[in-house]
Amino acid sequence: MAERDPAWKVLPKPSHPHDSARLHVSGEARYADDVGEPADMLHLAFGQSTEARARIMAMDLGDVRAAPGVVAVFTAADIPGANDVSPVAGDDRLLADGEVLCHGQALFLVAATSQRAARAAARLGKVAYAPLPAAITIAEARAADAHIEPVQRMARGDATAALETAPHRLAGRFAMGGQDHFYLEGQVAVATPGEDGQIHVLSSTQHPSEVQHLIAHMLHLSSADVTLEVRRMGGAFGGKETQAALFAAAAALVAHRTGRPAKFRCDRDDDMVMTGKRHEFEVDYEVGFDGEGRLLALSLHLASRCGATVDLSPAINDRAMFHADNCYYLPDVAVISERLKTNTVSATAFRGFGGPQGMLAIERVIDAVAAHLGLDPLDVRVANLYGPGRETTPYEMVVADNVAPQIVARLRETARYDERARAVAAFNAANPVLKKGIALTPVKFGISFTTTHLNQAGALVHLYADGSIQVNHGGTEMGQGLYVKVAQVVADVFAVPLETVRITATRTDKVPNTSATAASSGADLNGMAAYNAATAIRERLTAFLARTYGVAEGAVHFTPGGVLVGGETLTFGQVARKAHIGRISLSATGYYATPGIEYDRSVFKGRPFYYFAYGAAVSEVVIDTLTGEHRVLAVDILHDVGRSLNPVIDVGQIEGGFLQGQGWLTTEELVYDERGRLLTHSPATYKIPTASDRAKHFTVTLWDGENAEPTINRSKAVGEPPFMLAISVFSALNRAVAATAPDRRAIPPLDAPATPERILSAIAGHRGGA
Ligand code: MTE
Ligand code: MOS
Repeated sequence: MAERDPAWKVLPKPSHPHDSARLHVSGEARYADDVGEPADMLHLAFGQSTEARARIMAMDLGDVRAAPGVVAVFTAADIPGANDVSPVAGDDRLLADGEVLCHGQALFLVAATSQRAARAAARLGKVAYAPLPAAITIAEARAADAHIEPVQRMARGDATAALETAPHRLAGRFAMGGQDHFYLEGQVAVATPGEDGQIHVLSSTQHPSEVQHLIAHMLHLSSADVTLEVRRMGGAFGGKETQAALFAAAAALVAHRTGRPAKFRCDRDDDMVMTGKRHEFEVDYEVGFDGEGRLLALSLHLASRCGATVDLSPAINDRAMFHADNCYYLPDVAVISERLKTNTVSATAFRGFGGPQGMLAIERVIDAVAAHLGLDPLDVRVANLYGPGRETTPYEMVVADNVAPQIVARLRETARYDERARAVAAFNAANPVLKKGIALTPVKFGISFTTTHLNQAGALVHLYADGSIQVNHGGTEMGQGLYVKVAQVVADVFAVPLETVRITATRTDKVPNTSATAASSGADLNGMAAYNAATAIRERLTAFLARTYGVAEGAVHFTPGGVLVGGETLTFGQVARKAHIGRISLSATGYYATPGIEYDRSVFKGRPFYYFAYGAAVSEVVIDTLTGEHRVLAVDILHDVGRSLNPVIDVGQIEGGFLQGQGWLTTEELVYDERGRLLTHSPATYKIPTASDRAKHFTVTLWDGENAEPTINRSKAVGEPPFMLAISVFSALNRAVAATAPDRRAIPPLDAPATPERILSAIAGHRGGA
């Protein structure tokens, strides 16, 4: 990178609104389903498995083919190339082939003249199954010894020996549920056949390149024949990192086989049944500690429900292990991770990518230790934070940028934690029915894909002769504000107003071989790639102007008032025009790969993360001990985004992430029946948080610091880390339940999500001493 230009280091970054904010609220923003439909468009639906696991003996699709509006019906036999929509392991079928692995799995594909006709016809398939033994729960999978990969172990020192000698010792277990992504825009794809076998696909995917490659393999095409385009998604949250491929591949297959454009807009209920969710975890722990609650030994067993196929489960469970320390130094530790294969839809990426599960596990352990010793959990947290002489993680990465102690101390003071904790205790002493709880929990989240090669990005910047600019990069926009951040970076390089920069849709024919927009790294990677592209153009302009005006390059300055060349000032448009006439290339690609990271998965050692993002939250809650209902009363957040690229966008990410985390831990409950059917497949039965679930008092403050690493503008990733701030809500709920039997020195038996039923049963368990 050119050190000469200081713009990315020194300019304060204004809070530009989201580039599509106006279009979002006026309904003019175009999502894939809003693009005009040609008259010959086909609409698609899947025939779905009604068994959790079975051999398909026969499929009679006569009635499906004969149904009104049906144009074509396809099965696995109609796929010319690879029947594979998986990210890594090659085990996700577009259409079932021989055996079904979960309820709802796609068996056949109907193309009809309307979506309604396709869905109605899809129900008419007659399928003969020979059922096979299925494992629905973690316990059933364990009993059947069904795993998606061998048990993984990350360890330091000798946890077993340290447990023996620790002055105090506790063992416990608890469970946390999965989560549906509930993006407002469901899965959708539109495939249009082009000439000579080429195909264009609009897809609501976080990973255009992966979908491109899968479609190419499926249709025996080259990647160059397939173009993926994504202008925006109406939310993704990890649910479109791998799972969009199923719908895009289906649309591409139909377009390829029929020569007609094809759209798959998945119905909400089908979407909830057919697409993967956050991994559900069961946690067993044994912990050794001293009288102040300092952890001396920890043995942690994380078991997760991975579903029927591998998907991204290895990396997600790895990230759970990497975050099982959160902000705490664990001297002797063993983290065991068991990845269970169940006959339920394959679990997938979801904001935090396993991090929340690992982090909730250790926060639960801390709460248990505090309860056992009768200490304030915050004092136990503070006693265990990484600090001088205690700064290496279990995977031997040095926590070099630790600001957790300062953030916790500052928030403790500004949110008046101690004073409010006393007020909560007084309230509880005076109120037999309502009980309050308060908790402060910190977050440390590792930034980078743990699969090292994914940490790269490309960008393409065009400067037109009228001085207007187009920027394109490999990242996708899902509402998080990536596009406006990257456009700001480009505008700053040329010192032009943001309006000069036109943001364009992500396309595989503009920037190839991209990584998923995931792991919160979108702005870090694409921002830097776009910076490099724009800087290359600016350097050409600088050299050209210096030559033309006979001045030193150092005498050319791009400023908001215009381009200064020696004593003259030119408008940016004049410079572009002159450069074009002077035959200077005004288009450039840029590339960036994160430096300094390397990590050996075989031993779980190395530096998987470029840096950490930190934060802390205080949540105060109240429960009704008669009904089990709760309210989150107050939330105060202090979060570290380095030097923000766009503070208002970042605050939006923090608020949204927190609320989504609150939903995971309180109201969002996935229920499967014993045959593996998802019972909670619509908003009627699955409760995401709404505006009224947001605490009335809700403050967000950005930590005043900068990234220790030279990231773009010294900013930090913000997409996922704030999700885990909501662990403070769960911890506060535990304390409220504990207040129903204040003399018991034990953590209540409360699993997540803390639904009214679970809170009531935890109260009963806690009071009864269970
Ligand atoms: N914010 C909105 N509004 N919508 C989303 O779908 N996804 C989250 C987060 N914030 C998401 C979001 C997830 S899971 C990730 S990994 C990041 O955004 C991805 O974008 P980024 O890398 O640009 O932060
Ligand atoms: Mo986010 S779960 O990394 O898409």
